[in-house]
Amino acid sequence: MPHADWHILGPGAIGSLFAWHLAEAGCSVRLLTRHPGESARLITLDDQTSPAHTSATRAFHVDHQDTPIQRLLVTVKAHQTAAALESIRHRIDAGSLILFLQNGMGTWDCAKALFPATRWLVGTTTEGSWRAADRHIIHAGRGETWIGSLNPAWSNDAVHLVDALKSTLLHPGHDPQILQRLWRKLAVNCAINPLTVLYDCRNGELLQKPAALRQMEAVCLEVERVMGAALGGVTVEPLLPLVRAVAEKTGANHSSMLQDYRRGQPTEIEFITGYLVAEGLRLGIATPENAAILDAIRQLAPAGSR
Ligand SMILES: NC(=O)c1ccc[n+]([C@@H]2O[C@H](COP(=O)([O-])OP(=O)(O)OC[C@H]3O[C@@H](n4cnc5c(N)ncnc54)[C@H](OP(=O)(O)O)[C@@H]3O)[C@@H](O)[C@H]2O)c1
Repeated sequence: MPHADWHILGPGAIGSLFAWHLAEAGCSVRLLTRHPGESARLITLDDQTSPAHTSATRAFHVDHQDTPIQRLLVTVKAHQTAAALESIRHRIDAGSLILFLQNGMGTWDCAKALFPATRWLVGTTTEGSWRAADRHIIHAGRGETWIGSLNPAWSNDAVHLVDALKSTLLHPGHDPQILQRLWRKLAVNCAINPLTVLYDCRNGELLQKPAALRQMEAVCLEVERVMGAALGGVTVEPLLPLVRAVAEKTGANHSSMLQDYRRGQPTEIEFITGYLVAEGLRLGIATPENAAILDAIRQLAPAGSR
């Protein structure tokens, strides 16, 4: 297991970072891209998280074969998941193990539908990386990565996977309560990302805007109610302090949703606010503030055409 074969579906900013560190730890790593003519990729990683600010380039094999996949790390954007998994469905079988490492919730529904016999795990990371160019990744900030299973039958798979990844620099932890962690991350994403698009501002600037602060608070209250019901009626600690702390800590950042919007790319809104609103509907809990934000983002004209 420590030197298991890994395939990375979506070697962008986060996928390349993990590919790099898995390879560094001795794993065999192959990339799955959407470029049929590509057989190898040179990826340069600038590590700005260490005082030495190292930079190095590593070659990766791009795999277009039809052989079964052992360990699959999914790091495409949430809305790209269905098409990406569909493209490799013939390579996933009951022996495969999939790890979803994305923002938002519900991307795993594609796996349930496409590969009902395959085990899958979920993770969340606050590592920060971005693409200076297509194959040039900047690791800009150290964070934490947590992995767990939403299905108790696969908890041991999560424990073993985390053990195997401990030797990588990103050494993730196993969280037996991963669903709660994903919900808290969803709250942060619901309360910061779309608002930075609507106010066209950095994360920290939301805290200076009274109207944005009021929306943040309302979003958090709604997420608390939906999260509590989704977790079986538990009482959820107030989420606003967490959201404020993240907005302060990442104050100078442009959220990924604002970056996607400014580039004219689809955003992950349907798997963030869209997921929350859908869960509210399913559980009979009103989410008017999140629904209004979802509508506003859906109706936005592409950046640059306003
Ligand atoms: N970047 C971060 O710091 C960070 C931190 C925490 C969480 N996340 C989350 O991690 C996920 C990935 O984000 P990211 O920043 O890494 O995005 P990204 O840089 O856009 O990477 C996504 C990659 O997926 C590839 N892709 C899209 N469709 C594909 C397909 N059908 N088959 C194979 N590859 C495909 C893209 O290929 P092309 O190169 O062809 O476009 C791109 O390389 C998101 O959910 C994000 O919210 C990111």
